[in-house]
Amino acid sequence: MTQQSWWSFFKAFLNERQRIGAIAPTSAGVGRRMAQLGGIENARRVVEFGAGTGPITAQILKALPADARMWAYEIHPPFVEHLRSTITDPRFTVLAESAEHVRELRASEAPEGFDAIICSIPFSLLPPPMTSGILAAAAQALRPGGVFVALQYHPRYLRPIMREHFEHVSRTFYPWNLPPTLLLSGRGSRHSS
Ligand SMILES: C[S@@+](CC[C@H](N)C(=O)[O-])C[C@H]1O[C@@H](n2cnc3c(N)ncnc32)[C@H](O)[C@@H]1O
Repeated sequence: MTQQSWWSFFKAFLNERQRIGAIAPTSAGVGRRMAQLGGIENARRVVEFGAGTGPITAQILKALPADARMWAYEIHPPFVEHLRSTITDPRFTVLAESAEHVRELRASEAPEGFDAIICSIPFSLLPPPMTSGILAAAAQALRPGGVFVALQYHPRYLRPIMREHFEHVSRTFYPWNLPPTLLLSGRGSRHSS
């Protein structure tokens, strides 16, 4: 992570606390763990929600097979620009819009559904209907057997809401990050696609 990434992340946090939700980019270790939980090394079509300055993105791209593809949603324009200027990997595309649009992306790019969606959107700071909208879209965009992996700092907030959208929800605690994080995995959509 470059010094420029840290600074642009901190500035973004000062301007838009609710949507950015953290004061610093996520550590590489969390990104690697999320890539493992998402089964990225065997994936063909992967999506990231809330890529920020790209620390998790970098770990997903490291694990992703050479002929696979990845899309990342990000709504903060300076982060979109940062991702576009720093990641030149031909497998990677940045989408400057909200993650709810992933259903349309499935229709155009992955009709059988995505293998994994990796997410670090700060849900506990967003209005609940927005969280439900994004989780419903994620559940509908995955293929059967696909997995949604979400990073959260709040210990209890997201799990009950994820259960409304996914049949199976499991938790992994990752203590080696500041602050320590909870990684939630959801499988099996409760929605028809
Ligand atoms: C806690 S930061 C995580 C950034 C980066 N992935 C990391 O781990 O350092 C959350 C990111 O989610 C983005 N975000 C918030 N709501 C979003 C939405 N509806 N769609 C896409 N991105 C969103 C924010 O702009 C911010 O970059």
